[in-house]
Amino acid sequence: MNDSEDTSPNGRWRKRLISIALGCLLLTFSLGMLGGTHPRGESHIKTWSRPGTGFQLDKDKPAPPNEDSEASKDFTCDKCCYRYTTIENGILEIQSKSELMKRGCEKRLPDAMIFGVKKGGTTTLKNFLSYHPDIAFSQDELKFFTSSEDRYKGVEFYRNEMLYSTPDQISMEKTPAYSHYPKVPAMIKKVLPNVKLIIIMRDPVERAISDFVHMQVTIARKCKKKSGCNLDNSGYYIAHTFEDSVIDSNGEVNYSNLLVAKGVYVTDIQRYLKYFKPEQILALDGEAFIKNPYPAVKLVEQFLGIKDYFTRDHFYYDVQKGFFCLNKPIPNNCMKESKGRPHPEVNDETLRKLRDYYRPYNKALNDLMKVDFHWSS
Ligand SMILES: *[C@@H]1O[C@H](CO)[C@@H](O)[C@H](O)[C@H]1NC(C)=O
Repeated sequence: MNDSEDTSPNGRWRKRLISIALGCLLLTFSLGMLGGTHPRGESHIKTWSRPGTGFQLDKDKPAPPNEDSEASKDFTCDKCCYRYTTIENGILEIQSKSELMKRGCEKRLPDAMIFGVKKGGTTTLKNFLSYHPDIAFSQDELKFFTSSEDRYKGVEFYRNEMLYSTPDQISMEKTPAYSHYPKVPAMIKKVLPNVKLIIIMRDPVERAISDFVHMQVTIARKCKKKSGCNLDNSGYYIAHTFEDSVIDSNGEVNYSNLLVAKGVYVTDIQRYLKYFKPEQILALDGEAFIKNPYPAVKLVEQFLGIKDYFTRDHFYYDVQKGFFCLNKPIPNNCMKESKGRPHPEVNDETLRKLRDYYRPYNKALNDLMKVDFHWSS
């Protein structure tokens, strides 16, 4: 539930249903605040951005199907340390120690990672890349570099969280929050000086709206649990409407709200460039990726120096779901529909203000990364 390709509703009835649903969520939120406790902001963010859909390792699952069952017959990754199932049902780790040893499987620190951005399309990109035979992609967001608790446990703890990989594979994880926190680049540099970094960025205005919807849902969910739902110290300010969240009482864009600040991608990348060579960073256009994932995955293959594997016919557009799915090696392999949440209608004035705010940063991003992000003006 961290990244999604959100779709816009068409019918009025649907919008009405959504406002009712949002109303209920907000009510839950307010009720929860009354009795809530207030843990640190960092741990809030960590829990909120925990992926709820997509792949899961079998530690969270019932026992994997045995070797000769239907599921394992078709979808094996012969040279991997795991077996594929669908995006929905997850990658299954090989259980047998001897098989792991035979294949040279070990847990390895990441050779590459997707480090941003939240709501940029990172989950979809991870799902697709997970089927590349040269990539062993951790299915959980590990959040090692944004969690002081985990860093305290040390690098061996981090390594142990990775998926098993063969010596020929690239080990990967994705944590979109890495891009935004100022101290993270130096920490990554220290542990993984040669890591290859992929950042996928969509129109920051769309990102903000998507993040707003995401935060409302996750806040409400969080508030149902006993931990409470206070936003203090999280850097997020989530009001009743999107407009009130991003525009302050003077009519100005509230650029300190993370909803807004997380869209200033150029600042984040500049911070990474203090520690990493430009050749270590691949910038992808999230809007282009959503419209057609094929060119983006080819760029990733080139960037990582791995096999030319994906073909156009790996991908197909699911008209009903409104996003791209995989057709190989497993047919009709899609994310859950709930990944695409409907967006609220946002008034033109607010959109204009946000576009004006982002324009110079977008321009600087184009110049810095030499990618023409079409949303930049
Ligand atoms: C702006 O955002 C910050 C950070 O989320 C928040 O603390 C503050 O209350 C917001 N200001 C206004 C005027 O909405």
